[in-house]
Amino acid sequence: MNISSNKTTINLQITITFCVLLFTCIIIEAKCIRGCNLALASYYVLEGTNLTYISQIFNQKIPEILQYNPHVLSPDNIQSGTRINVPFTCQCLNGDFLGHTFEYTTQKGDTYSKIARLAYANLTTDYWIQRVNIYDPTQVPDFSMINVTVNCSCGDRHVSRDYGLFLTYPLQAGENLQSMVNGSGISTDLVLGFNPGFNFSAGSGILFLPARGK
Ligand SMILES: *[C@@H]1O[C@H](CO)[C@@H](O)[C@H](O)[C@H]1NC(C)=O
Ligand SMILES: *[C@@H]1O[C@H](CO)[C@@H](O)[C@H](O)[C@H]1NC(C)=O
Ligand SMILES: *[C@@H]1O[C@H](CO)[C@@H](O)[C@H](O)[C@H]1NC(C)=O
Ligand SMILES: *[C@@H]1O[C@H](CO)[C@@H](O)[C@H](O)[C@H]1NC(C)=O
Ligand SMILES: *[C@@H]1O[C@H](CO)[C@@H](O)[C@H](O)[C@H]1NC(C)=O
Ligand SMILES: *[C@@H]1O[C@H](CO)[C@@H](O)[C@H](O)[C@H]1NC(C)=O
Repeated sequence: MNISSNKTTINLQITITFCVLLFTCIIIEAKCIRGCNLALASYYVLEGTNLTYISQIFNQKIPEILQYNPHVLSPDNIQSGTRINVPFTCQCLNGDFLGHTFEYTTQKGDTYSKIARLAYANLTTDYWIQRVNIYDPTQVPDFSMINVTVNCSCGDRHVSRDYGLFLTYPLQAGENLQSMVNGSGISTDLVLGFNPGFNFSAGSGILFLPARGK
């Protein structure tokens, strides 16, 4: 009687310890649980780029894109040097980070670096593309489907509960914290809060900026 009751206690302790360990493991492992329906990619328009192309590489319909770009007056002729907001769903990928994987068909002579810098306008990096594809970076086949992952944000309630929609914003050379918030009504503290450790002096890198909906 006594012995059996002791055994039960030990078993119970083991079970509890195991559960606590498992629970801790799950919390440490899962860096995100869910994403959000909407994020925006800030796409810097290079000379010769058009909405048909942007629509293709982000697999998003042109009228849907235009809803987030009231500043575009002539959709058939978008201005180089401006930015187009492209809506996409922000997902929790591998329980690890927030992002979205687009399918891109490689063109002749494409490299991961070219795809990141030119096709996707620095919304991702060659390293980040390399991480989600089986092909060796020196042997990317032409006219094949590859994965292109773009990071995103759904906000951070520890910084502010007021924002749920975010732009994934590649900093251009010449842009800095001041020019970023200029006229946006967003404080520099808020930008820094949502982008801890971001190095503005580098003149490059990917920021998450609070945005307004359509
Ligand atoms: C749009 O851009 C793509 C890629 O740069 C190009 O191949 C295509 O001819 C352009 N379409 C128009 C209508 O300009
Ligand atoms: C991406 O960044 C590189 C330099 O880091 C720059 O040469 C290139 O023009 C940028 N692409 C776009 C679309 O701004
Ligand atoms: C995307 O997010 C992951 C996790 O935070 C980070 O390691 C990676 O460098 C980011 N990729 C880019 C292109 O910023
Ligand atoms: C793209 O990602 C999917 C899902 O992770 C994977 O099965 C597929 O092999 C990847 N494509 C390439 C070309 O690596
Ligand atoms: C802020 O915007 C105003 C008006 O658009 C401009 O004159 C000024 O140079 C900008 N300041 C910075 C730091 O970019
Ligand atoms: C920020 O970027 C600048 C320019 O690339 C570099 O000189 C500096 O060391 C960087 N600072 C940090 C803290 O990484």
